[in-house]
Amino acid sequence: MANQVEVSIKVNGVDSKAEIEPRMLLVHFLREELNLTGTHIGCDTSQCGACTVLLDGDPVKSCTVLAVQANGKSITTVEGLANQEELHPIQQSFWEKHGLQCGFCTPGVMIAAVGLLGENPDPSEEEIRDALEGVICRCTGYQFIVDAIKHAAQIMAGEEKVAMADSLKVEEVR
Ligand code: FES
Ligand code: FES
Repeated sequence: MANQVEVSIKVNGVDSKAEIEPRMLLVHFLREELNLTGTHIGCDTSQCGACTVLLDGDPVKSCTVLAVQANGKSITTVEGLANQEELHPIQQSFWEKHGLQCGFCTPGVMIAAVGLLGENPDPSEEEIRDALEGVICRCTGYQFIVDAIKHAAQIMAGEEKVAMADSLKVEEVR
């Protein structure tokens, strides 16, 4: 078809190529071309943040990015958080701490949280609330979300300690 361009975007670790219209938004690329419908669309004014994904590790609203702008880059959506065996710590924490009600905002909130914890592994409550400013939750009042993100930070810090202890043991054996 005329006016199509090829894009190659790594999505959740998989190289995804497609011929698309240059005006296609990243959120539509994810949902319609790749069927990754965990990334939600909650507004048409770029305010709700339900469409948040990581672009090269940074949270972005995928309704404000053209798919062609993500060409050659790496995207993580909510579908890419868990591995085959277990939930990502942020998903585990939202489950344990009841960080959601209807769940519509949850993919965007969790991705924003993962972006925050990538930058700041031990955020204060204020820093968590700042990081969530662009993501609107209409149900929870945010407190359980904040609690869940704090809990995820603790789990991730514990996992790092275990990984460090394991690598020291390997060094000792050598
Ligand atoms: S869909 Fe609401 S900010 Fe993107
Ligand atoms: S849990 Fe319903 S909008 Fe956040």
